[in-house]
Amino acid sequence: MQQILDAILAGDTAPEDFASIALPESYKAVTVHKDDVDMFEGVASRDKDPRKSLQLDEVPIPELAPGEALVAVMASAINYNTVWTSIFEPVSTFGFLERYGRLSEYSKRHDLPYHVVGSDLAGVVLRTGPGVNLWKPGHEVVAHCLSVELESPDGHDDTMMDPQQRIWGFETNFGGLAHLAIVKANQLMPKPDHLSWEEAASPGLVNSTAYRQLVSKNGANMKQGDVVLIWGASGGLGSYATQMALNGGAIPVCVVSSPEKADIVRSLGAEHVIDRSAEGYTFWKDEHNQDPKEWQRFGKKIRELTGGEDPDIVFEHPGRETFGASVYVARKGGTIITCASTSGYMHQYDNRYLWMNLKNIKSSHFANYREAWEANRLIEKGLIHPTVSKVYSLEETGQAALDVHQNKHQGKVGVLCLSPEEGLGVRNEEKRALHIEGINRFRGV
Ligand SMILES: NC(=O)c1ccc[n+]([C@@H]2O[C@H](COP(=O)([O-])OP(=O)(O)OC[C@H]3O[C@@H](n4cnc5c(N)ncnc54)[C@H](OP(=O)(O)O)[C@@H]3O)[C@@H](O)[C@H]2O)c1
Repeated sequence: MQQILDAILAGDTAPEDFASIALPESYKAVTVHKDDVDMFEGVASRDKDPRKSLQLDEVPIPELAPGEALVAVMASAINYNTVWTSIFEPVSTFGFLERYGRLSEYSKRHDLPYHVVGSDLAGVVLRTGPGVNLWKPGHEVVAHCLSVELESPDGHDDTMMDPQQRIWGFETNFGGLAHLAIVKANQLMPKPDHLSWEEAASPGLVNSTAYRQLVSKNGANMKQGDVVLIWGASGGLGSYATQMALNGGAIPVCVVSSPEKADIVRSLGAEHVIDRSAEGYTFWKDEHNQDPKEWQRFGKKIRELTGGEDPDIVFEHPGRETFGASVYVARKGGTIITCASTSGYMHQYDNRYLWMNLKNIKSSHFANYREAWEANRLIEKGLIHPTVSKVYSLEETGQAALDVHQNKHQGKVGVLCLSPEEGLGVRNEEKRALHIEGINRFRGV
């Protein structure tokens, strides 16, 4: 592995030299174990500790299938899906691996008693399987996390519609929180040259998701002047949605839960910010009943900020806790666009407000190939910046996931994989200098 790392750090290693480096038999990877799926039985969700379930293992390198690439991972990032995997909620991800394993001779490789997690990476291509022509050993890349088979016509227009659509490193094995990873070669995209490895690794999943959810015609199709209510505006998804709303000439109303988070979204350029903790919204009176008066109080606050306007778009992901309020505050004809249910997936809302006001609830999930590419292009052009706040080592991945689970983080939490330190991998210092303030905005907060 040291030889691989030395070749990457040299910065000028020829492709044929990368191709001729002998591969080790095994590699370090962050995993969960099938034996452990019941370890948190009886423990409340919030008390389930990813540090107990995430292991750092030495695992064998699987055989490369046609169309795949083996990547040396310099850095990765924590996504909420790794939190879900590590606490075995809402279901154990081994079920996904078993189902995938039944599909084909090659997919069988994924059905193992351990799951290598992680849905982001920045690194260098080491090997490619048969049929891969565009990507070569030595290419510096990031990977998006859409894994599709595309054998059915269902996905030929919008690759998210493929019946075999999966999220790499969550519903497939051999993910990015490791020294090596296996991806389908069409997940690869050029690494933005002005970013370090950990910066380049961090936007992938959330940036692409926010792009489809908010900007794409497959999502909310945001336009100039739209009022966009963004829950968790300084979090993983929200920190990108806020940047996209501002770039696109929309008017974000950012919801956060502390003065520090309020400051950071203001520094991005957002003028309208609601601190939900300071306002003390209690949308649920008890386990079964919501409080429409609290929806009204929240709606009034939004109008105060916007000069009387209601949101054209509500960027939803907290789910059960906020969904009733989200439906209530959206403007007549507005869209509630949802991609998740962090606080619970059995939503409840008052349908009268939806139908009488012709509002739409629309779903969104990750991004298709094209959307992921377009989202990465925004990063590459310096139009959207990574939001890395803190970086951990691969050994500390459990703690990194705990930070995200406990909502103690801002923006994205990075993880160094092969990269021995932060700040490496920048190939275009001039371009970086142009964007340095944006790149570092979330650092250390
Ligand atoms: N479908 C997809 O493709 C997709 C892609 C990415 C993520 N997701 C899902 O989307 C969710 C968010 O992901 P993320 O990366 O943005 O996570 P994140 O970094 O933890 O950010 C989420 C933010 O939401 C806010 N929040 C959490 N619980 C809340 C509640 N009960 N009420 C109001 N606000 C709440 C928090 O911000 P404040 O405390 O500051 O308000 C938190 O920082 C996760 O469930 C994740 O699995 C889905």
